[in-house]
Amino acid sequence: LRVAVVAGGYSDESVISLKSCELIYASLNAEKYNRTRVRILKEGWFAEIDAEKFPINKEDFSYIKDGVKQNFDVVFNTIHGTPGEDGYLQAYFELIGLPYTGCPFYQSALTFNKKDCIAALSKYGIPHAKSVYIQKGTNYSIKDIIANVGLPCFVKPNRSGSSLGISKVSVADEFAAALDKAFAEDKEVLIESFLDGTEVSVGVLNYQGETKVVGITEIVSENEFFDYEAKYEGKSQEITPARISDEVTKRVEEVAKRAYTSLNMTGFSRSEYIIVDGEPHFIEMNTLPGFSPASIFPQQAAYSKIELSDLMDSEIELALN
Ligand code: DAL
Ligand code: MG
Repeated sequence: LRVAVVAGGYSDESVISLKSCELIYASLNAEKYNRTRVRILKEGWFAEIDAEKFPINKEDFSYIKDGVKQNFDVVFNTIHGTPGEDGYLQAYFELIGLPYTGCPFYQSALTFNKKDCIAALSKYGIPHAKSVYIQKGTNYSIKDIIANVGLPCFVKPNRSGSSLGISKVSVADEFAAALDKAFAEDKEVLIESFLDGTEVSVGVLNYQGETKVVGITEIVSENEFFDYEAKYEGKSQEITPARISDEVTKRVEEVAKRAYTSLNMTGFSRSEYIIVDGEPHFIEMNTLPGFSPASIFPQQAAYSKIELSDLMDSEIELALN
């Protein structure tokens, strides 16, 4: 089976994607799969073989090597952020009829939009923080925002990942800079109230015919919150399983599975919650969880004693069926 392991992307998460790609590439059984790295970057799309670059023909995602056209049977998508996690590439692969791993384009677009995903899950009874949504270029009053969400609060780009552009705001004077930072990542910003509780990250996927929770990881950040540095430069503790009671564990599992199944998702996912008084409050859903060796999802797989190669087989089977 010819597998394109697709990495890169157009956002600042591209560097993370290149790392996720390497662990996924290494975990794809070389006896079963003929693996090729494909980069989708602002500067171009190309297959990368022994440091040589072969341009991708966007009509059918093929490339020419030694004068012969090379096609793929399936795409293993490892792009975080746009255009790999927000539905664009999914819609493209759909149009050209090439199977791909992970969520379809609709679920990808919906979950990548924090505001819309929260609204959808709220219909299924999943609690969340209070929030205010604003668009670039529209009028808003910082006083009204604070009256709605209180302080401290979080200012976030509505569509982004890896905590890029996120600030925790404790006093009104910090608002302007926080909004500039968030608007630098996206034209839409979401301002959410601070929830004082235990943060957990929950891996969920379809595995061997069932919706399975791979692990519940507790996040203890050394920084003000689980920001980019805390995520990728070791400034946090990630504890699997989370130090919560059996009862709360069951509640988190139930809510995380409900979120996954009610949105009709498929493949890997990792959703984030803050547990307040035993009740998980939804923060966000990732359809392309980080897969660098230090990332949470691979840690959860190790905890659940699931071999990474079995996980990759499962993703490819789901893509082909
Ligand atoms: N967006 C990053 C890669 C994550 O969710 O792990
Ligand atoms: Mg995220």
